[in-house]
Amino acid sequence: MSDDERSGAFDHLFTAAVRDGLGEEGYGSWRSIDEPDAVSLSFGFPYPESFPHDELVAAAEAVFEEERDTALQYGGGDYADRLVEVVAERERDRGIDCGTENVLLTNGATHAIDVVCHTFLERGDEVFVEAPTFMGTLKLLGNYGVEITGFGNDADGLRVDAVADELERREEAGETPPKLLYTIPTFQNPTGTTLSRERRERLLDLAEAHDFVIVEDDAYGALRYHGEDLPPLAALDESGRVVRTNTFSKTIAPGVRSGWVLADEEILEEVTRMRAGGANTFTQGVLGRYCTEGPFEENVAELRGRYAERRDHMLDRLEEHMPPGTDWTEPDGGFFVWVTLPEGIDTDELLPRAAEEGVTYLPGEQFFPDDRGEDCLRLSFSHVSHEEMERGIEALARATRSRMAEH
Ligand SMILES: Cc1ncc(COP(=O)(O)O)c(C=O)c1O
Repeated sequence: MSDDERSGAFDHLFTAAVRDGLGEEGYGSWRSIDEPDAVSLSFGFPYPESFPHDELVAAAEAVFEEERDTALQYGGGDYADRLVEVVAERERDRGIDCGTENVLLTNGATHAIDVVCHTFLERGDEVFVEAPTFMGTLKLLGNYGVEITGFGNDADGLRVDAVADELERREEAGETPPKLLYTIPTFQNPTGTTLSRERRERLLDLAEAHDFVIVEDDAYGALRYHGEDLPPLAALDESGRVVRTNTFSKTIAPGVRSGWVLADEEILEEVTRMRAGGANTFTQGVLGRYCTEGPFEENVAELRGRYAERRDHMLDRLEEHMPPGTDWTEPDGGFFVWVTLPEGIDTDELLPRAAEEGVTYLPGEQFFPDDRGEDCLRLSFSHVSHEEMERGIEALARATRSRMAEH
């Protein structure tokens, strides 16, 4: 509905956060261009053939057959319970000391982050984030009316030194630290970078010294294509102040809307209290069966191989086609490459021209809590075929060169 069509009759009844955002678009409405003939490198969608259709059908049939009385009940059946065990076991495999008492299943990672925010945040609180960071979390934080402060990233992830400087400055000035620091330390969205081990340890020390909670979003942690795994923040944490959020969206399918929160028991109890409406126990049952008796691990291993090829293809095509002065990240995992165009090119302005040439992407500004990022853009290599990727990068190169010629 346009602003002219709104009556405003109910505005006084809405929360202050809703009133602040009137007229703005909601969660999921990322600014992009819908150009049917253009290759979309905009979104982090898994490629369609990655979905385990037949395996999920078999799992659903087994759940219906074996759990007739419980599968569709509020609490779900044994297979749903098994999913909690699968999650705890996989998290232990990552080096985290945890059991099922530390896991709360949710309807995806966004739901997980939301319920964590609901537990900790009040209007006027402050949250530190990486800048750039996942635009979904930025939108979600907006719903809580909190201050968002962004700290830069480099090739080793979040600039923890900048966070430390700011915390020290505040301490000296008698100002409060943030309540939460939200980070995607591994294969970050949108930059693809990974926080080094040293910085992980320093960040944990800072959280303890300045008494804030770290929200570790590990949506892509299972999808490493190069190099050695690093321990998650939660595996290095000895104070119980890392709350992890994660999802099956990238390793099974986004449509199953299943994720989790993993936290210290004392925190998890309150997060659980705040999660009204429960989660989708029937889907959990299907996933519980698929993960324990289906080829889940084999499929994730296969995904790593396929995504690695896509990542390499995108980097090769960027190298081949983009004009001098263009920079990009080289992620070891995840779905994204973060591109910085030659100076003076605004990626938001360039988008219609790029779409005409045959490609769409997400402009960098959408990933910042402030006005930065105008010469950057995010490309996703997760969804399109090699041939489409080639066409898309060629189109991006043409659009960039034609803009450069006008300077
Ligand atoms: C870093 C990050 N966190 C969370 C999510 C949301 O995951 P879900 O589909 O489980 O809500 C995404 C999805 O793109 C993401 O990139």
